[in-house]
Amino acid sequence: MNSLDRARAAYHEQFSTAPSAAAFAPGRVEIMGNHTDYNGGFVLPAALDKGTVVLGAPTGNDDILLYAADFRRMAHFSVKTLQPDARNSWASYVLGVVQQLQRRNIPIGGFQAVLASDVPSGSGLSSSAALEVATAFFLKQCFPYELSPMDTARLAQKAENEFVGVQCGILDQFSSVFGQDGSLLFLDCLTLEHDAVKMGRDDIALVVCDSIVKHALTGGDYNTRRAECMAAARHFGKELLREVSWDEFTTRELELPLNERKRVRHILTEDRRVLAMRDAIAGFDTAPIGRLLAEGHASCRDLFENSAPEIDFLVDKAVEIDGCIGAKMTGGGWGGCTINLVHQEAVTQFSDTLAAYYRDATGHEALIYPFRAAQGAHALDL
Ligand code: GLA
Repeated sequence: MNSLDRARAAYHEQFSTAPSAAAFAPGRVEIMGNHTDYNGGFVLPAALDKGTVVLGAPTGNDDILLYAADFRRMAHFSVKTLQPDARNSWASYVLGVVQQLQRRNIPIGGFQAVLASDVPSGSGLSSSAALEVATAFFLKQCFPYELSPMDTARLAQKAENEFVGVQCGILDQFSSVFGQDGSLLFLDCLTLEHDAVKMGRDDIALVVCDSIVKHALTGGDYNTRRAECMAAARHFGKELLREVSWDEFTTRELELPLNERKRVRHILTEDRRVLAMRDAIAGFDTAPIGRLLAEGHASCRDLFENSAPEIDFLVDKAVEIDGCIGAKMTGGGWGGCTINLVHQEAVTQFSDTLAAYYRDATGHEALIYPFRAAQGAHALDL
């Protein structure tokens, strides 16, 4: 059953009335631009053809009833007192969006909704952003409001920053709102200028490999990385690392503590890789693509230090397999997924071989699947 059908069935079971609104928002894969977003840098993601459905109706009073179909949990809240609930932390992504809308003086009444997703949580594919953005699109149907697509992405990001407490950038929410069928996306996170980047060839597959090693960005490593980047920018008298030039950095890098020096070197080189990758993807020149993916991964592993042994193993093995153009980690880090670019005709052989290597080495089953860059968030017909 797809997420919409699961949400429909669960809604009927839990509320025994008919829903009046539904929305879908996708997860994302970051092809290049790791942790560059909150540094005002460049990113090159794609919306995934998997995502989250929020389906429901206004309650006509102050009650918020949320049912997570994927783990069969119901939670109750009130629009008057929005508080995180430690036993139902998944609900924070919804409540955070309600709070942000309220802060913009958009009146949001009570509602009951079912959430269903086919983006595994903690896998680095932005299940959180998919839920936030789907909530914003769902609430827009229940309590109509005007907000531009970029403001919707920013609102969802703020919900995560302020209600959930993860100091994420805008990459995930931007990708979930702006996804384009068949194209990657390019975003300048400083100016918010963006564009679709069509792949120059259609015989190359984007393949996700989920290590099933879970990461929890709420665990603190993510916020620590952000704080290190901000401290380094301040050292150069700048607000964001984007404003620090390569010359400025290399002239004065020894003034920084070693950890900050490594983080800055990653961010500044990663920004250059995003621009190079955008051109290489559009022309689809496989040699630079493979090299950029390898350099990007090494930079995460050695300089940003947000990879994991399982992820390094998957990247190292992937590039040994025939038909693989390149591989790297994707997302926040410390587990989750790799992204692999693979010649279309080699995808099955690639996936089977990589799964077998991983099984032999770890005893775990990796989830490996090709995906199509997909459309962003939208309302669903009921
Ligand atoms: C997470 C965050 C994003 C971004 C990526 C790393 O997905 O939510 O804002 O920083 O990590 O690129």
